[in-house]
Amino acid sequence: MCGIVACRVRDHAAPVLLSALRNLEYRGYDSVGIAVSTEIGTLARIRTVHRIDDLEHRVNDWNGARLGNVGIGHTRWATHGAVDEANAHPHCDCTGRISLVHNGIIENCDELRATLTTSGHQFSSAVDSEVVCHLIEARLAESSDLFDAVQTAVTQLEGSWALAVLEESTGRLVAAAHHSPLLLAHNDAGTFVTSDPAAVSEWASEFHILRDGDVVEAGETLRWRNSGLMIDPPTPVDFARTHSPAELRGHSDFMDQEIDEQPVLAAKLIDELGPAIANGRLWDELGLPPFDALQIIACGTSMHAGRVIAQTLGRLAAVPTTLTLGSEVAYDVVLPRTLRLAISQSGETADVLRALDHPVPTEVRTLALTNNPHSTLSRRADAVLAYSAGPEIGVAATKTFVAQVIVGVCAVLSALVSSGRLSVTATLELVEQLRRLPVQLTTALEISRRVVPAIAHDLSTASGFLFLGRGSALPYAAEGALKLKELSYRWAEHYPAGELKHGPLALIEPGTPVVAVENGDPRLRANISEVRARGARVVTVGYDGSTIPVLTGEPTPWGPLEAVVPLQILARAVALELGRDVDKPRNLAKSVTVE
Ligand code: M6R
Repeated sequence: MCGIVACRVRDHAAPVLLSALRNLEYRGYDSVGIAVSTEIGTLARIRTVHRIDDLEHRVNDWNGARLGNVGIGHTRWATHGAVDEANAHPHCDCTGRISLVHNGIIENCDELRATLTTSGHQFSSAVDSEVVCHLIEARLAESSDLFDAVQTAVTQLEGSWALAVLEESTGRLVAAAHHSPLLLAHNDAGTFVTSDPAAVSEWASEFHILRDGDVVEAGETLRWRNSGLMIDPPTPVDFARTHSPAELRGHSDFMDQEIDEQPVLAAKLIDELGPAIANGRLWDELGLPPFDALQIIACGTSMHAGRVIAQTLGRLAAVPTTLTLGSEVAYDVVLPRTLRLAISQSGETADVLRALDHPVPTEVRTLALTNNPHSTLSRRADAVLAYSAGPEIGVAATKTFVAQVIVGVCAVLSALVSSGRLSVTATLELVEQLRRLPVQLTTALEISRRVVPAIAHDLSTASGFLFLGRGSALPYAAEGALKLKELSYRWAEHYPAGELKHGPLALIEPGTPVVAVENGDPRLRANISEVRARGARVVTVGYDGSTIPVLTGEPTPWGPLEAVVPLQILARAVALELGRDVDKPRNLAKSVTVE
């Protein structure tokens, strides 16, 4: 999704911005641009709707005034307005005095645009961000101080923003944030502003994190305001360990590599957490109060992991759980003694963060399950379970799903034994079952790599897919369908197999692919027969005798986690058959920072 970089360095800003923007590529974007100060006190604005390579060519071909040492850059993921150069960031005011990049959504943009237009401002894009340029321009007409102008302008905004604003003749750089991540590093190499610390990890590891309402001037020294009052910069946080750069190690794409990493990651997590489960230590160290109900807040793949965690809790201890998509939280009733479990790989998903604003009884506490211990989600939660899966570059979540399930299940077991709802003996048996997962995932990988490509080839011309499961297999069927639609751009839906006869059976015609995920429930066989009888091409993921026989162990409360491996491989293989970019599927972003 949209990404911001800005810098003030000793030498040339453009190469730094280009390199930082490349580090943001994995998040998904549809246009990219920079604005850089020049030696004659103008701003050079260079944008493209093509890839960063094209931007680099345009920068190299630049034949205007020599580019200077201060600049801003942006990868755009369209929300307002088409994908074209006029809508690409940076945006300018009428005079060209300031350039600005913005992440987030200005919710009162229509009203502001109408007022600004009436007072003579001319807009050159359809993007909500441009209103901020004109608001700053209007303020600069009253006071020529950029820092003050940005401060006043943001008080007129509703919605979310991370902003970097560059002034033409002075090269002054001002950043501001509200409900959208933005960080600032100030060190010997220069000053760097970014929405994602991975973008500038080559130059900075310690960052000050902007809080809601912060406006900061990034000059030779920092001037920091919150809600208009001058304050000291917040204590910097060291991101070095959590933002190690990701590189391909002999794989053709990151998704392939990340699928392969799953058994080793599972082993690492279970080794780390295993000794702290049956003694309740994992739960006790979180410092959270006991709970009688669980509310899970998540989106996409993280919600599928949440479904697995909720089912595990329900099966083992009959603790009631609510599954709430981040974007739908407004309609939930949360009782006291509820634990809110917010699950997000990035920790920056706007729907999840906004869901946490929903009022709940004061005793309700929030536990974050995330791959990013320094994320906004981590800062907002009362306790954090950080699962350290390493960077996941493929837009499709794979290894982070496996990590979320394992860590979430470990935490649930530990909470149950700590509160006396599960015996130590029963917990130890379950931990033994968890310890079998790395081998089960390895077996699933080996079998899937052998069997799935031919199946994918066979199914790649199908226009739609149905995924079936029952009970504990259902979240995995859901994940298989999400992966397939996300990567192949084909319709793929999942259904509880028992629901078929209540509607979806009408979709089945000769040749319709139906992928059934087994969990040992004998009733699934009957459902498979029903679709077979109507000519479906059935692929079963299950025990011996299945099309993809990856299941080996006895059923567990968390269901057949290893079944996700062939489903990931199937989605990737079908997508490759169709010539898709599996790491960067169209229209999607890795970190979804708008609602
Ligand atoms: O960063 P998050 O886990 O909060 O992201 C939530 C979803 O956007 C994400 O899981 C999405 O569904 C994946 N791209 C699916 O592969």
